[in-house]
Amino acid sequence: MSVATRVTSLSPSLIRAMSVGAPPEAIDLGLGVPGWALPEPAGRALAECAGREEPLGYGPNGGAPELVSAIADYHLLADDDGADQVMVTAGSQAALTALFLAHVSPGQLVLVPDPGFPAYATLARLAGAVPVPYRLGPRGDLDAEAFTQALDSGDVALAVLNHPGNPTGGGASLDALATVASACRAAGAVLVSDEVYREVYLGRRPASLRDVTDSGVVVSSVSKGWAAPGLRVGWAVGDPGLLQPARLVHNAMTTSAARPSQLAATALLRSSEQVLRQTRRELIQRWSIAQTGPAAVRPVATPAGGFYAWIPVPEWEAHDTFGFCRRVRDEGHVIVVPGTAFGAAGEGYVRVSCGGDPRLLAQGLSRMAPFWEAS
Ligand SMILES: Cc1ncc(COP(=O)(O)O)c(C=O)c1O
Repeated sequence: MSVATRVTSLSPSLIRAMSVGAPPEAIDLGLGVPGWALPEPAGRALAECAGREEPLGYGPNGGAPELVSAIADYHLLADDDGADQVMVTAGSQAALTALFLAHVSPGQLVLVPDPGFPAYATLARLAGAVPVPYRLGPRGDLDAEAFTQALDSGDVALAVLNHPGNPTGGGASLDALATVASACRAAGAVLVSDEVYREVYLGRRPASLRDVTDSGVVVSSVSKGWAAPGLRVGWAVGDPGLLQPARLVHNAMTTSAARPSQLAATALLRSSEQVLRQTRRELIQRWSIAQTGPAAVRPVATPAGGFYAWIPVPEWEAHDTFGFCRRVRDEGHVIVVPGTAFGAAGEGYVRVSCGGDPRLLAQGLSRMAPFWEAS
């Protein structure tokens, strides 16, 4: 398949498409972004950068050294080879793109969670590969058996984990992570663990792939936990042999992440204790609104992490999740995302983002509830 054909086979994200044509008064519970102000250390770093008299250069391809070292420290990497184990990127999306393009060849397979973040399948197709969905456990948790079965389906170049997961909020146990890591090693598949929601949790801090192995790669960013998606700064940490070719792809794509953003991200990471404490406060406030809101749309379980309530569509509407979400949007004036945006296993579910303004969340849930009540 030519690159042009691969590109035309891509479709726009249904998450964003749900906002197109929405009534102007619609409350947006679709996009998964933190709805509180940019934390102060980032604002201060941006202002300092704007006040400097020296030229604003590109900075090194490998990322600002102070950011590389802040990331290495945050992930507790050893001092001597920390820089080799870090790739600074324009958001975790660019880290994923670079890893896919560096390690996946046309015709190969890529394992993606179903339901899962739609970019994984899109990037697999962009690389000319075939996305192969693997099933998650009942609450969206990593099911190591389902994963290893999918790994047997052929020439798997790369496999993606996402925990806590978008859209389900499901987590991954240390045992499950260890099992999939050793299965990928045996199969020669690159394991990429997307942990952008790891800092956004209510109960116990979620596990990381790095808790069980040095192999594979973890990707993350300041977009969710550090409440700074507009900075567009992310990273990958892990096996230097996997990062080296991906770094070249990222350099070819972007030269490097924006320099003021990298300095702001450094300030955020260096103030992690304070910034992440605020993130948890904001999350607790929003989650208690969701859990005490109208019973019909109350989330059944507390997620391992993330902003999302993953709510079953009423039984009598489960055959047409997309049509149901369009009615909630056009008649109820609330934008939510049909589960099918995240794969076939999302049929019968709706993703509601609880990350935004708490007042609008409460109002949106009240507007939604009648659609869940039988007439
Ligand atoms: C699971 C997951 N991974 C990656 C991303 C990309 O985030 P960013 O590029 O802002 O780091 C998102 C964004 O919503 C996401 O939900």
